[in-house]
Amino acid sequence: MAEHFVCNISELADGSVRIFEGEGLEIGVIHHSGTVYAYQNLCPHQGGPACEGLRIPQVVDVIGKGGVFVGQTFDEDDMHIVCPWHGYEYHLSSGEHVCNAALKLRKFDVETREGGIYVKI
Ligand code: FES
Repeated sequence: MAEHFVCNISELADGSVRIFEGEGLEIGVIHHSGTVYAYQNLCPHQGGPACEGLRIPQVVDVIGKGGVFVGQTFDEDDMHIVCPWHGYEYHLSSGEHVCNAALKLRKFDVETREGGIYVKI
């Protein structure tokens, strides 16, 4: 397993993504709410650049009295990565598809130290 320096944390604003190549793989490094994640930039559906898609929170139904549907809101603690090719959604925290845990983005360990971001491939 090799460790790769990606960039300084100050160069990756919260909410942004950086794509880099390491060990022959294209990897997306995503900074979200103070945590940095790294996934292979390869959607298990048909190979799209999943890490380059939008990030949106989980949509949650709001159920009122008597079990009546009232509306919907967002769960900001469950951010999703949306693959730009066909819209498959993956949990940012785990890389698992939101409906089928058997579909997963390949995740890599990330370490931030001394202001730098390092990914182990
Ligand atoms: S390739 Fe990602 S959703 Fe189809």
